[in-house]
Amino acid sequence: MTKRRLPRPAELAEILRPRPIVLDPTERRLRRAQTIADLRAVARRRTPRAVFDYTDGAAEMEDSLLRARQAFRRVEFNPNILRGVSDVDTSTTVLGQRSELPFSFAPTGFTRMMHHEGERAVVRVAQREGIPYALSTMGTTSIEDVAEEAPGARKWFQLYVWRDRAAGEDLMRRAEAAGYDTLMLTVDTPVAGARLRDIRNGLTIPPGLTLRTFADGAMHPAWWFNLLTTDPLTFASLTTSGGTVAELINRMFDPTLSYADLEWVRRSWPGKLVVKGIQNVDDARDVVKAGAEAVLLSNHGGRQLDRAPTPLELLPAVLDAVGDDAEVWLDTGILSGGDIVAAMAMGAHNCLIGRAYLYGLMAGGERGVQRCVDILRVELVRTMQLLGVRRIADLRHTHATLR
Ligand SMILES: Cc1cc2nc3c(=O)[nH]c(=O)nc-3n(C[C@H](O)[C@H](O)[C@H](O)COP(=O)(O)O)c2cc1C
Repeated sequence: MTKRRLPRPAELAEILRPRPIVLDPTERRLRRAQTIADLRAVARRRTPRAVFDYTDGAAEMEDSLLRARQAFRRVEFNPNILRGVSDVDTSTTVLGQRSELPFSFAPTGFTRMMHHEGERAVVRVAQREGIPYALSTMGTTSIEDVAEEAPGARKWFQLYVWRDRAAGEDLMRRAEAAGYDTLMLTVDTPVAGARLRDIRNGLTIPPGLTLRTFADGAMHPAWWFNLLTTDPLTFASLTTSGGTVAELINRMFDPTLSYADLEWVRRSWPGKLVVKGIQNVDDARDVVKAGAEAVLLSNHGGRQLDRAPTPLELLPAVLDAVGDDAEVWLDTGILSGGDIVAAMAMGAHNCLIGRAYLYGLMAGGERGVQRCVDILRVELVRTMQLLGVRRIADLRHTHATLR
């Protein structure tokens, strides 16, 4: 028989530790989020369905994205022990400049649709954290406004080649004048991918008020209020808008895009050049020969070709082919600091994240993007410590393999 007694008040006082009440609901939600998946769950509740799906979704069966994420789950880490890992340095060098973390913010279009703070919020976090930010051609804040918002941030400009080449040259000139040091040319979008969720949701840019979106508005009043009471949601660099995303891409983008255009961009842009959307070894080798300083292995977050190659699986062969001639970067499917450690151990020179920070943005604007970086940093540092590694440069192929 268990002998029972009444607890003494002093004993109770010792274990009673009420947590401080956080009154701000956004702050409360963000603090509770421990992973990017948690941020995604908050984002889903906070934004209209069509907006969340536009961000979260990919093309057709969404296998490109699914497989890229699964590849990270197949990583097996091989740790070293007894290495003294009390202080960890997460910094790297990306195209000749220091970055405080081994990842950068990928270019994403319509960022003010996810949250009214949009690109400004993201570039401010980039500045604070000492990591690069890539502004998209499809951005909703201008090249100059982004530069002014965060003069100390390292900024890159992502270019889509339009039918109107003169407009492209103008954008490159403006980006250079505003201090962007790297151009990221996206080459995986000769035509729009089939993002079925957007078609089913009837998403238009800017979002239109239909009976369905009106009903949804009742569930997300803050989002609609912000949309209607801040600067109209328009593209900052495009002269056209209206219709679905696919209609817009197919109207503006040039499907004749070829190596001649890459040469034209190389001639027109005096800074560093990264080609984004490389999906095989020969193309990687060829764009480096054509003057790219880095190749970004990416299937556009699974938003273009479905059943596309998985960047993490492609990485070793491209590293072999390119050697020391260019940096090899990687994106698509990154959802944790451990994913980034794995890619860096397997030889990537830099990683980009897209949805991870957009989930944060949708969950809580700038504070949400900051939370995303904080989560990734904690995961990154812990994974490095458990691997027995103190510097990014000390990560080796032997630390991570694909099962
Ligand atoms: C909502 C959204 C919009 C995007 N817009 C662009 C864009 O305008 N230009 C571009 O080159 N890539 C764009 N991308 C692709 C990202 O730059 C990046 O390749 C991708 O998000 C990486 O995959 P991840 O989301 O799994 O991190 C977009 C991605 C998302 C999710």
